[in-house]
Order: sequence, then structure tokens, then C-alpha cells
Amino acid sequence: MARVPQVIVIDPDRESSAEIQKTLTMLGFSVAGAAGYGVEAFTLAFQLRPDVMLMRIEEPLVRPVQTLSRINDGLPDLPIVVFSTEANIRLMRQSMVSGASDYLQEPLNPEELEASIIKVLERKEREGMRRRGELDDPIPQGTIITVFGAKGGIGKTTISSNLAVALAGEAHQSVALVDMDTRFGDVAITMDIPVERSIADLARNLDNVDRQSLKEYLVEHESGVHILPAPTRPSDWRNLTARHVRDVVDVLAQTHDFVILDTPGTFNEIVAAAIEVGTMILLVTTLDMASIKDTVLALEMLHERFGNDEERIKVVLNRAGVDTGVREKDVERTLDSPLWWRIPQDNEVVKAAQLGRPIVMSRPNTKVSLEIREMARALAGVRQAKQKGKKAGGGGGPLTNLLRPLFRKSA
Ligand SMILES: Nc1ncnc2c1ncn2[C@@H]1O[C@H](COP(=O)(O)OP(=O)(O)OP(=O)(O)O)[C@@H](O)[C@H]1O
Ligand SMILES: [Mg+2]
Repeated sequence: MARVPQVIVIDPDRESSAEIQKTLTMLGFSVAGAAGYGVEAFTLAFQLRPDVMLMRIEEPLVRPVQTLSRINDGLPDLPIVVFSTEANIRLMRQSMVSGASDYLQEPLNPEELEASIIKVLERKEREGMRRRGELDDPIPQGTIITVFGAKGGIGKTTISSNLAVALAGEAHQSVALVDMDTRFGDVAITMDIPVERSIADLARNLDNVDRQSLKEYLVEHESGVHILPAPTRPSDWRNLTARHVRDVVDVLAQTHDFVILDTPGTFNEIVAAAIEVGTMILLVTTLDMASIKDTVLALEMLHERFGNDEERIKVVLNRAGVDTGVREKDVERTLDSPLWWRIPQDNEVVKAAQLGRPIVMSRPNTKVSLEIREMARALAGVRQAKQKGKKAGGGGGPLTNLLRPLFRKSA
């Protein structure tokens, strides 16, 4: 957007309004005006027709909600971001049904405020483009989960394959599992499937592939998961580029709820592409010092690329409970990031892998399986079997943290 977005601030508290206006100016927005509730707010919004309205909402709700819904009725295209000292569901719900596009909790964090305003503006822009027929029809897009780790042998394939099975079985999602291990592609062995065609074949023929013929490249596992194996000869990766990865994943994401990408313990162009396309990156680590040191570097790299996006980047601790002398608390402190999920150490995992049957199928009630099944349910947004404080939602942003009690209540 070439023009500086014009924002108005509706806040009856003059002092706080002045503070917010200062923050908006510092962030590069233009403050077109400010007012309290009621007629004053209504007149300002109609006279100035700003790009965004920022509005305080507090108990008692009568006046703010009346102001909000009147302005929304009169200017339905005006994006409204509300903020409040309160974080209760009733308030949030009232704001949403009265026309707010986003809800922020005070004290306002400038980064969060900026992101919220940009997001509502982008949404408005897209709506306009769609109305004017400038956008293609939306294409369905599944969630792409890239399972990544800075080291070999830490459980990436174990987590990818078991999570895929759990998402299919537990959460009833359609799932594609792609083996992007450019060295030893272990998914086929772990899942005991034959490899006739691989990602390399699909990438080569992508121009001629439609929904129907796509199935010929995927192996349907007994769990229902569609597997796209790695080539049996690592040299077949040589002709594959980041572009191929993007195109293959794109096609799979149009036809599956979830696409899981298993990556190797090295870094190369293919892995970089797998990370780039991930809607979510599960960064796997274990409790030993080498793994943690490498995870710090991997996390730095991911933060440089995507910012400190806790919704997108989630750290998963595998082999939790192993006594290495390193405590989980220390890992979180060293990484400066919460451990989103913990999967315990269990020798049954090794046995299951050797038998070519993921542990969530062969031993569904072991602690490892229960954790992975629970993770799958959380990822799919399905009601969780048991409540977990920090573990299930350690990485949630303020909005998700607010929404969580709502989900629990309806559970
Ligand atoms: N939670 C666990 N408890 C016990 N053993 C585990 C656990 N997770 C993984 N393993 C075992 O550790 C070994 C390595 O696991 P896996 O192959 O999943 O790692 P990886 O990160 O994919 O390795 P690579 O980088 O070589 O692809 C396997 O033998 C696997 O069965
Ligand atoms: Mg592996």
C-alpha cells in the first residue's frame, strides 16, 4: 500500500489515547483523529473515513458496544481493531459480533498492534480484489508441517510417520507424508511400504499430473496415510530443485488436510525449500548438549527467516525423561523458547520401527503413542482428550490463549 494508512483512535481515556496515538505514529501510521464514545466517535469515523479504527472496549459494555455496532452498521468496510485491559470471552465475543476484526489485550505491544493493523488492512484489500474479480477462486490448502531438526537420529522420521498416522486415525484428516530425506529416506522402511515411484518421479511429471493421476504416485498405507517416498537411489535427488519441492507440496496440499514433510539431519536446498513451504515447523530436539547446541542455531536461523513466530515454529522434545543431566527447564532457558510438546523415551519405539509398524498403531496406549495422538488432535483442532496446562498450548499467542478456555468449555 503506497499511501500511509490513516487510523482513528476511539478511547474515552485521554491519557491512554495520547499514548496509543504516539505508538501509532512511531509505527509509521497516520493518526487521522481521536474521539471518545458515542456521537463524537460516529461523527469522526463518518467525516474522515479512515482505513482502520482502533477502539477501547471496557465494562460496562453498553456504550462501547453501541458505538462499535453503529459505526460498523454505517461503515461495514471499515476494519476495527478493539483493545481492552480485560481478557474475557464475553467481552471478546461482544466485540466480534458487533463488528470488530481483531482484539488486543493491554498493555498494547507495538509489534502486535502493527501486525494486527496490517493484517486487517490486507484482509480488506483482498476482499475488495475478490469483489472486483481480481483474484482467482480460492484453492483449498492443507496445513504443511515440516518436521525439522538440526541433527541426525533425533526422531524426525519417528515423529513424522507417527504423527501422520495419528492425524489420519485419531483426527480423521486426509494426510500425505513426504519423505524429503535426501540421504537415507527411512519413511518406507518405518512404514513397511514398497517403493515403486518416488518424489523424484512425481516432480519430473508434475505438468501432466491431475488429482486422479496423483494417486498413482502415492502409496496408501493401511492407516490411510498417503506416502510419497524418497527415491531409493540418493543420486535421484540431484535433479530436484527448490521449485520442484514447492510444486509437489502445493499439489499435495490442495488435496490433503495435512502434508507432513520429513527432512534429513543435514541442511541443503531441498530442506531449505521444505522449511520455506511449511505452514508449521516442528523443530525436534533431544536432551543432549550437542542436540541443544544445534537446535539453538537452527532456531536462530528460523527466527531470522520468519521472525519469532510461535504459531509457526514449535519446538518438540523427543526422548523426554532420559537422564542426560540436562533439565527441560534449562533447555527452554537456553533456547529462549517453550517446549511445545514432549515425547518420552520408550524402547518400544525402536521395536515398532524395526517391525515397520508405527508405534501409534502397534502400541496405541503407550505414553509415547498417547502423546503423539494428543499432538495430532491439538494440531487438527479436535477436542483434546485430557487437559494439559502449558504443554498443550505453551506456544499459543494471546488470541489463542484467550480462545482456549472457549474450546475447553464446549468440550
Ligand atoms: N521417543 C523415542 N524413544 C526411543 N527411541 C526413539 C524415540 N524416537 C526415536 N527413537 C529411535 O531413534 C532412532 C532414530 O530415530 P529416527 O530415525 O526417527 O530419527 P531421525 O531424526 O529421523 O534420523 P535421521 O536424521 O537419520 O533421519 C530410531 O531407532 C528410532 O526408533
Ligand atoms: Mg529420518
